[in-house]
Amino acid sequence: MRFSVGVTCMAKLNLTFSILGTLPDGYHDIDTLYQSVDIDDTIIFTFDDSFKEVRFATTGNEVPPEFPLDESNLMIKAIKLYQNEVEAARQTGVEIRISKQIPIGAGMAGGSANAAAALFAMNIYCEKALDIKGLRKLGSLLGSDVPFCIRGGTARGKNRGEVLQFLPNYPVIKFLVAKPKKLSISTAEMFKAFDEQPIFPDKRANTKSAAFALVKPDLKKLARCMGNDFEPLVFSLYPELEAICQEMMDNNALAAHLTGSGPTVFGFFEDELNLRITKEKLEYKFSDLSVWSCQSSPFGVAGLGVYK
Ligand code: C5P
Repeated sequence: MRFSVGVTCMAKLNLTFSILGTLPDGYHDIDTLYQSVDIDDTIIFTFDDSFKEVRFATTGNEVPPEFPLDESNLMIKAIKLYQNEVEAARQTGVEIRISKQIPIGAGMAGGSANAAAALFAMNIYCEKALDIKGLRKLGSLLGSDVPFCIRGGTARGKNRGEVLQFLPNYPVIKFLVAKPKKLSISTAEMFKAFDEQPIFPDKRANTKSAAFALVKPDLKKLARCMGNDFEPLVFSLYPELEAICQEMMDNNALAAHLTGSGPTVFGFFEDELNLRITKEKLEYKFSDLSVWSCQSSPFGVAGLGVYK
């Protein structure tokens, strides 16, 4: 038997990001407002019982050179984890074909979104052997952002980020997202550097108020409640990122911040024209910068169909 499942998976932004302390396992206790955005990867998972491996059909020419096509890829880990948990999943080989838009090493949960897509596809193959709780539990073993990425939309994330409170949908928000092409940041290294010298921003985020403002919706209030505790550290290491945020603010963004540990920054705008002009300006002023305009997505992972 051979059939394919198409899946799309979304990037995320952290509208707020507060570091509250350290957990007994060494991870950090965070409070964050996650938001899915429609920068997405499309992945085709082909199930075939004529072989038993989990492998990529995608070649190195079709994905960025930093994208791992071996066992270290979080999708392969996700599929093997699922196969460990659900016996029926062991009867098939899986071939993965990916078309990648989400930048790598960007703080936009590209790897986590891919892992969420892999769990989702395995669960289709196994006729929903796991419920959403079971999927999230497996997801949390793969990475702190994976449980959020499975459902996506908007959620407050606590503890490592895996304790989730999902929020209802609200009108679409438009974002500009920018990342210096050659810069990538390791989250683990940033947490380590933060622990060595914890410096908080003058104005810290208030995730609870941000969540209320978002649901209302009161975008100006949301903007006032946003913030990211990594900013003093990351902006001191990479001042260009602060300058990009400042350029967005100078062009009437309601707010502009780092997402996660960076290096991606984002601004959100009420006015579409402002957003488009700012995109042009950023591309003109900053060399080697990728800039995307995108909007909030009400979901994280979605099926694109089953092909025989
Ligand atoms: O969970 P994930 O694999 O995305 O995390 C990458 C690294 O970031 C972890 O190994 C850990 O060092 C750090 N981290 C943390 N606290 C969190 C999330 C991540 O210390 N809440």
